[in-house]
Amino acid sequence: MRFLVTGHCGYIGPVLIRLLHEAGHSVVGFDTGYFRDLIENAPESCFPDEEIRKDIRDIEQSDFKGIDAVVHLAALSNDPLGEMVEKQTHEINTVGTIRCAQAAKLAGVERFVFASSCSIYGASGDAKTPLDENAPLAPVSAYAVSKVDSEAALQQLKDDSFFPVMLRNATAYGVSPRMRLDLVVANLMASGYATGTIKVLSDGTPWRPLVHIEDISRAAHCAGTADRNLFEHNVFNIGARDCNYTVADIAKAVAAELPGCKTEITGEAGNDPRSYRVDFSRALNGLPAFEPQWNVEKGAKETLEWLKAHPADLERLFGPDFIRLKHLRKLSDNGQIDEEFRWAV
Ligand SMILES: NC(=O)c1ccc[n+]([C@@H]2O[C@H](COP(=O)([O-])OP(=O)(O)OC[C@H]3O[C@@H](n4cnc5c(N)ncnc54)[C@H](O)[C@@H]3O)[C@@H](O)[C@H]2O)c1
Repeated sequence: MRFLVTGHCGYIGPVLIRLLHEAGHSVVGFDTGYFRDLIENAPESCFPDEEIRKDIRDIEQSDFKGIDAVVHLAALSNDPLGEMVEKQTHEINTVGTIRCAQAAKLAGVERFVFASSCSIYGASGDAKTPLDENAPLAPVSAYAVSKVDSEAALQQLKDDSFFPVMLRNATAYGVSPRMRLDLVVANLMASGYATGTIKVLSDGTPWRPLVHIEDISRAAHCAGTADRNLFEHNVFNIGARDCNYTVADIAKAVAAELPGCKTEITGEAGNDPRSYRVDFSRALNGLPAFEPQWNVEKGAKETLEWLKAHPADLERLFGPDFIRLKHLRKLSDNGQIDEEFRWAV
C-alpha cells in the first residue's frame, strides 16, 4: 500500500515510517517542517519515499494521488502550546484535519487514521473505573478540544466510501530521531539525568496513561491496513495493558534507572486538572492485529541510553532542540514564522 503520513517530520512520524517500510509499504510524507532540521541518527527507513513540504491548511485533493491510506499526525501537539496559541491550534488541528479528510475523501482514499489523544478525557481523575471509549469527554485545553472537535467532524464524513479510525493515543514515550523531552517520561528522566534530582512539579497524583511511540505506530499500521469488515468500532484508546500510572509512579520508574538520583514532588505547578485512567481493552481485543510490545520500565531504559549519548547539559536538553514550545517560539522570535505559524517569505 501507499500511505500519506502528515506531520511526518515530528516525534512519532519517523518511527511510524520505519514500521510502514518494514511492513513493505511506501510512504509519502506531508509536513510544513517546523522540526525538520532537528533530526539525529536516523536510518534511511525513517524517511519517506516522497515528501510534500506544505501547510496542512493548504492540503488539496491532488496531494492524495496514488494514496491508499492516510495517517494524519500533523498538529500543534502540546497542551501548554494550545493555551498560548488557541486560535492557531484550532485552525491547524481542527480546520486542518477537516480539510485534510475532505480532500482525501474527494480523492477516493477510504482509510483515514487520525492521531487523537486520551487527553480528551481531561479532568476525569475521580472516575471509579478506567474510562472506555464511551466515557464522557472532559477536555481542559485548546489542544484536547481540537481533538474532540476533529473526531466529531470525521464521524460526520464517515460513509461507505470513507472510513476514519480515531486512535486516542495515551501520552507517548520512547526514543525517536526527532526526540521530544517535553513529555512526562523523557522530561523526568532528563531532569534526573542532568541535575541529579527528578523534579515533579505537580503533586504527583494525576493519572497519565503511557504508550510507546512504536506501539502508537503499530496501532496506526493496523488501523490503516485491516479490512473494514473486521472493525466493530472506529474509535480506540491506544495503550498497552497496565499502562495507567500516576505521575508519582512514573517518577518512581524513572528513578529506578538513575541510582543515587533524588525525587522531589514540589507541587509548585499547583493542581493539574488533567487526570484520566483509561481502559485499553477495546484496542487490545478489537483492533485487528494490534499487539503492543513496550512497558514504561523498558522505555525508561531506552530513554536513559539516549540521554547517555548526549551531554548532561540542562540548557540544551530543555531548550528549543527538544522542547516543542521553545522551538516554535525560537522560529517566531527569529522572524521565521509569522503569528499564523506560516513561514515568513
Ligand atoms: N506525543 C504524544 O504524546 C501524543 C499523544 C497523543 C496524540 N498525539 C498526536 O500525535 C500526532 C503527532 O505527535 P508528535 O508527538 O509526533 O508531535 P510533533 O509536534 O513532534 O510533530 C507534529 C508534526 O506536525 C507538523 N505540523 C504542525 N503543524 C503543521 C501544519 N500547519 N502543516 C503541516 N504540518 C504541520 C510539525 O511540523 C511536526 O513535524 C499529533 O497529532 C499529536 O496530537 C501525540
